Amino acid sequence: MASSAAGVVAIVGSGLIGQSWGMLFASGGFKVKLYDIEQQQVTKALENIRKEMKLLEQAGSLKGSLSAEEQLSLIRGCASVEEAVEGAMHIQECVPENLELKRKIFAQLDRAVDDTIVLSSSTSCLLPSQLFAGLAHVKQCIVAHPVNPPYYVPLVELVPHPETSPATVDRTHALMQKIGQSPIRVLKEIDGFALNRLQFAIISEAWRLVQEGIVSPSDLDLVMSDGLGMRYAFIGPLETMHLNAEGMLSYCDRYRESIKRVLKSFGPVPEFSGPTVEKVNQAMCVKIPDDPEHLAARRKWRDECLMSLARLKRQMQSQ
Ligand SMILES: NC(=O)c1ccc[n+]([C@@H]2O[C@H](COP(=O)([O-])OP(=O)(O)OC[C@H]3O[C@@H](n4cnc5c(N)ncnc54)[C@H](O)[C@@H]3O)[C@@H](O)[C@H]2O)c1
Repeated sequence: MASSAAGVVAIVGSGLIGQSWGMLFASGGFKVKLYDIEQQQVTKALENIRKEMKLLEQAGSLKGSLSAEEQLSLIRGCASVEEAVEGAMHIQECVPENLELKRKIFAQLDRAVDDTIVLSSSTSCLLPSQLFAGLAHVKQCIVAHPVNPPYYVPLVELVPHPETSPATVDRTHALMQKIGQSPIRVLKEIDGFALNRLQFAIISEAWRLVQEGIVSPSDLDLVMSDGLGMRYAFIGPLETMHLNAEGMLSYCDRYRESIKRVLKSFGPVPEFSGPTVEKVNQAMCVKIPDDPEHLAARRKWRDECLMSLARLKRQMQSQ
């Protein structure tokens, strides 16, 4: 039976998110053991990580105080789940978003661990009560949901099962801070957690404004990228309210009636189908044709922007 040792993290599933977690944990000086059901995926993951870390080092954007070679020497592949979890203090599950598959993996992990290891899932939207129901080690289970791409976007949502122990939440919070991520505690599970609830609220109203012919798709995106998003990269909506008047009390006094009036004019949840999909898709494809090359090039550009923004935020915080 695996028992935990300081400094070793197991990653189960070595795809996009598993590789990012591997890089983040290595940047914090942790030993990383990567496992995947496809052995060649582990080899591919190790190659990708090497390439990525070298590029980050050249760009001066490698996280942590160790060199790329030092970080790479901390990461190794494993041939079985049991080998990966042996000696680990934290297991980060990163298999595809499928409840049955994840439940199977957690049942397997549950049998393989003792009472000290944290069992953490990267799920984007499966609820902890579904994922961890009936596990002997449920107190040690938690969702740690990253945001893509996790290397540049530090938020991690920590979502406990109702039976998760406070110590598990605290340990995971401390671990995330140690690797330079920005953890938040979602105190009770809720569909969509916090990030996707906010994101979906924005998508919903964006869709409605385009559907009703109030703004074009490209202008809608500018509202966020050249408007709201400029502030939101540094301060959240609540602090924005506080600063946009003489404090929060004054903001609510001044604006509560207008906010409520506008919110009441929001209609039902859009269908995200029919002619509006055609309209939005056409506008997006004029800007970024939806073939793999154009999409990959634009994602690369987005990640470069996020890397520069992350650097700027670090500079601002140290001033
Ligand atoms: N991609 C994102 O934007 C994103 C963001 C946040 C969270 N997540 C979550 O992270 C998780 C992983 O997503 P991803 O994008 O890395 O997926 P992915 O498809 O890139 O990688 C999943 C990996 O799991 C492996 N796998 C499948 N079955 C397995 C098993 N039984 N044991 C071990 N490995 C197995 C696959 O071979 C694959 O390499 C999902 O739950 C997803 O919702 C994804």
